[in-house]
Amino acid sequence: MRKQIAAANWKMNCTLTQAEELLSKLAAAEINVTENRISVIAVPAPYLILAQQQLVHKANVFVAAQNCYSKKSGAYTGETSVEMLQSIGTAYVLIGHSERREYFHETNSLLADKVNIALEYNITPIFCCGEALDIREANTQNEFVGRQLEESLFHLTAEQLQKVVIAYEPIWAIGTGKTASSEQAQEMHAYIRSALAAKYGSSVADSISILYGGSVKGSNAAELFAQPDVDGGLVGGASLNAEEFTAIINALK
Ligand code: 13P
Repeated sequence: MRKQIAAANWKMNCTLTQAEELLSKLAAAEINVTENRISVIAVPAPYLILAQQQLVHKANVFVAAQNCYSKKSGAYTGETSVEMLQSIGTAYVLIGHSERREYFHETNSLLADKVNIALEYNITPIFCCGEALDIREANTQNEFVGRQLEESLFHLTAEQLQKVVIAYEPIWAIGTGKTASSEQAQEMHAYIRSALAAKYGSSVADSISILYGGSVKGSNAAELFAQPDVDGGLVGGASLNAEEFTAIINALK
């Protein structure tokens, strides 16, 4: 069975005091996780070590970085390498969030390099894809997302691809309170899985977790996660509230 994953993305939020408080609430929360039903918390880089220390005793809860650079090390002021992430024990890294693509001009080809280096250092990439509103309105979302997958992931071997988690986040649903309907989410997730199957075969495609992101809340998580191709969520705003995020974790299939 593929993993069901409730992932938090704190984005650029929280002071140290707020991060400590949120982490200690998560560490104490009654969550229903197992080896195949996990939670991943993507915190800002300054809190990675703290998050790992606070959550180390929480089985099946992992810490993620929100970004990494595509090079191993060197003169890249301000960047974080996967070698650093590996050295502090980070298990996951978000790659290609739409905010990185939009504000930091990350391209599909740069993201392919980031996926490669994360895999090289045994850090699981959570590869984000998703279309903007104008693309959805023109009904070309499948072609758009298909190209993101093709240009950033389809150079991988089947064995490598099976180590990647995909997060579909329609940009028009991020931080807007406008969630994709469970039918819209299912439709795109099924399309993504069919594209993976066409390239790698259905048993590989069936093994890959595909998360939905965009205004996931405690109140809509169960319906979204109940869709057959939705394997959990990547949650922004609602992950900053421990009770809300706990409800989302407990809504996993
Ligand atoms: P919201 O849950 O705030 O819409 O953000 C989604 C997201 O971008 C998670 O990465």
